[in-house]
Amino acid sequence: MAAPQARVISLHVNKEKHSLQVLPWVSLLDALREHLQLTGTKKGCDHGQCGACTVLCDGKRIISCLTLAVMKDGSSITTIEGVAEGEKLHPLQQAFIDHDAFQCGYCTPGQICSAIGMIGEGKARTRAEVKELMSGNLCRCGANIGIIDAIMEVMEGGTHE
Ligand code: FES
Ligand code: FES
Repeated sequence: MAAPQARVISLHVNKEKHSLQVLPWVSLLDALREHLQLTGTKKGCDHGQCGACTVLCDGKRIISCLTLAVMKDGSSITTIEGVAEGEKLHPLQQAFIDHDAFQCGYCTPGQICSAIGMIGEGKARTRAEVKELMSGNLCRCGANIGIIDAIMEVMEGGTHE
């Protein structure tokens, strides 16, 4: 049987177009980290269970470790490196700082991308709903209260995108 061939795919990542050659089993997470050197997106479990690898794909949050890069050919991806506007932090980034919403910071890129996606979904209104809809993003440092406080502040301030 012939060996699987690498495929050339095109991804718009943080508004820049990239062509990359990937084997069919390469995850979007590995494509971002190893092909494009965008290491802000973290690999925690690599099994879809921790949320550390969350990125935005065409504006929707996805788990990049369980997504094959070839499935996203032609898509627009936003990683934590792309959420700020130049020097101006995204409101969620600023709110995470203001609320001490991290300790080691390993879960933070995934938390912020997930929160951007969750706010965009428009389903959460209350703190309990935010907690529920962010429950796929784990924080081993126990910074959860600050994380939810930060997200609530942005939602209530109406400054989110
Ligand atoms: Fe993807 Fe844990 S690294 S969910
Ligand atoms: Fe360490 Fe969340 S800040 S895992």
